[in-house]
Amino acid sequence: MTSFFAPGKLILLGEHGVVYGHPALAAAISRGVHAYAEPSASSQLELPEGLNEAQQAALERAFAVAAKLTKHPKVSVSVSSDLPVSMGLGSSGALAVAVTRALLDAAKQKPDLARIEKIAMAMEKEFHGTPSGVDHTTSARGSMVLYQKGKVTTLKGRRPVKVLVALVGERASTKSTVAALRERQAKWPRRYARIFEEIGRLAKEGATAVKQGDLDALGDLMNLNQGLLSALQLSSDRIDAMTRRLRAHGALGAKLTGAGGDGGAVIGLFREPEHMVKKLQEEGIDCFSSQLAGPIAL
Ligand code: MEV
Repeated sequence: MTSFFAPGKLILLGEHGVVYGHPALAAAISRGVHAYAEPSASSQLELPEGLNEAQQAALERAFAVAAKLTKHPKVSVSVSSDLPVSMGLGSSGALAVAVTRALLDAAKQKPDLARIEKIAMAMEKEFHGTPSGVDHTTSARGSMVLYQKGKVTTLKGRRPVKVLVALVGERASTKSTVAALRERQAKWPRRYARIFEEIGRLAKEGATAVKQGDLDALGDLMNLNQGLLSALQLSSDRIDAMTRRLRAHGALGAKLTGAGGDGGAVIGLFREPEHMVKKLQEEGIDCFSSQLAGPIAL
């Protein structure tokens, strides 16, 4: 059996704006998805446990698309993940990249980045409808990136960027949250365009802050971004309460990450998040820390 790993991701700045062509600052995290490949009579996917019917159907469709694009290699693929599903941490993007790597390997095709990203994008369309591509691209590159459709810059900071990731409960699918926002945007396009543009600016400034190792500026940008996501009705009481809590405990910045909505993941930027992770875990909160960029990053 051969195994292939792809990391999950989190978005430091710029979710949703990125769907409309603006930049987002995203980073791979240490958790992710493993795809395991075994020789078989045909291309097959073993469905993982714990998915609802809609998620299973999307996964089957996505696998069929990837199998077709890799010319149906004779392999059975199974997956395991330590990423929570549908929490904004890029589990479908990571799954798409890991499965693509397994299929390309079985098909004896070159696993070059462009090809991986093309196939993973086709899979992501089955999961999300109109994905920007930020999730699977960040996973495939395994680093911090400033992502804009058609343009990807890999970033390394002067200092490590460390975040605490707190899970604040279930949320609607990315597909439905993105679609609901699209309806509002289509009704009032100019007003929404102004907000998306500003979100994109924050992401660009964030990339500069990372390069300069200016964590205070990065935190401030995250707080402002959270305000704009809230203006777009993508936040909730649970998310707001966690951002306030993290800031009150010394986070330089805090915001939702991913599609947002009712729950999902909230991130807090800390110079040293470990003590806070321990404290919140003792209070019953599901959380972990991840280092995103810097001299000793992933
Ligand atoms: C999802 O991780 C990020 C969104 O911007 C959707 C996308 O970029 O496809 C909400």
